[in-house]
Amino acid sequence: MRHSVDARLFQQTAHSPSYFELSRSMGEHGRQLIDFCIPCNPYFPTKGMFEELAGNLENILKFYPSDADTITGQLARVIGLNPSTIAMSNGSTELITWMDHLWVTESIAIPIPTFGRWTDQPMETGKRVDMFPLQERDAFELDIDRYIAFIRSRGSRVAVLCNPNNPDGGYLPQREIIRFLDELADLDLVVIDESFIDFVDAEQYPSVAAEATIRPNVVVLKSLGKNFGLHGIRFGYLVANPGLAGMMRKTLPKWNLNSLAEAIVFMLKEHRNEYDESLRMLAHDRFSMGVELARLPELSVFSSQANFLLVKLADGIDGGELRDHLISQHGVLVRECGNKLGMSSQFLRLVVRPPQDVTPLVEGIRSFMVSRWRTENRVSALHSIPPDAPELPRPRTPDASGPMPSINGHRSRGRHR
Ligand SMILES: Cc1ncc(COP(=O)(O)O)c(C=O)c1O
Repeated sequence: MRHSVDARLFQQTAHSPSYFELSRSMGEHGRQLIDFCIPCNPYFPTKGMFEELAGNLENILKFYPSDADTITGQLARVIGLNPSTIAMSNGSTELITWMDHLWVTESIAIPIPTFGRWTDQPMETGKRVDMFPLQERDAFELDIDRYIAFIRSRGSRVAVLCNPNNPDGGYLPQREIIRFLDELADLDLVVIDESFIDFVDAEQYPSVAAEATIRPNVVVLKSLGKNFGLHGIRFGYLVANPGLAGMMRKTLPKWNLNSLAEAIVFMLKEHRNEYDESLRMLAHDRFSMGVELARLPELSVFSSQANFLLVKLADGIDGGELRDHLISQHGVLVRECGNKLGMSSQFLRLVVRPPQDVTPLVEGIRSFMVSRWRTENRVSALHSIPPDAPELPRPRTPDASGPMPSINGHRSRGRHR
């Protein structure tokens, strides 16, 4: 299989190129891409829900949506929070933008690597961004005490923590986050970005949203695109005390939510069980995909509680070349992390997908390694042909009776049940 791809699309942005742009650039092949790039729940909405939406599409698109208070009120009923503590937006990125305008006055601290808007948005508005580098030698694990000491030493007025973090999927238990909030009660604002928290299975109640409603300086941010598998709709929300949440609701533009978002929010109550089941299936896939990838000798896999796995390629292997090979030869789209602060092109972020999609990914990585080995050896063969040339590299085959291959010794930040 050979697909022509416009490689410039990967260089134009600090984020991933849009799926639509990529698939347009690939013509009819673009429709067959297996997407390991955009972190989306593959099991939700269910087929039945999509059919219901499709059947109602004409009405959904023809009419104005209700106002944001009506949609937010329904969301509050579904998630069991007081509507006065919620502000709903057109994607959580809209809230990152407005939080920066409203509440970040001079400086903001953020561990890196992380979601790019957390560093770029405040820099674009002239704020000081205090970046706390997570270390690869610690498996990108965030040490809360060191982060607090860093915030104090820099005098940062706002602090952000993503739990789980993007791109590594590292997770801190709820009690650690509460300790973080307690320690920083004097800051202007502390934001806990829980955009991926529904994927956590390390503990039963990982969120600190309820804490945010009763504290003066805490905001919890949630994206709905990732967990509901609907990035195109653009919806997210924040949870905070009624004063902060109300200020945000007044600031957001009127009718900032669209009718598709409204339709989904009003469907959620009846589909709670399917949603919970989708999260269970995803956690199962995360484990099996981690095991599959850890079998490849050229990859190190980091433990994750999100719906993606960060992997590091062995020294000398370029992620950009692998990404181009996978998309052009196998129709597999991956996120190479070279344009993320605190990362390099040796890292890939791979979205958790069902086993039938992981097979072409693994085959694609193997075929890349083989072609790379052949090229290298063709070059060296021009100089000398060793009589005992080695065989092509083969994947390690785990002993079926032995222990599961470890995910390269990297620890999860949370407890696994
Ligand atoms: C940690 C984090 N927060 C927020 C967002 C923004 O999500 P959205 O605007 O799609 O809701 C992202 C997107 O990837 C993210 O990784």
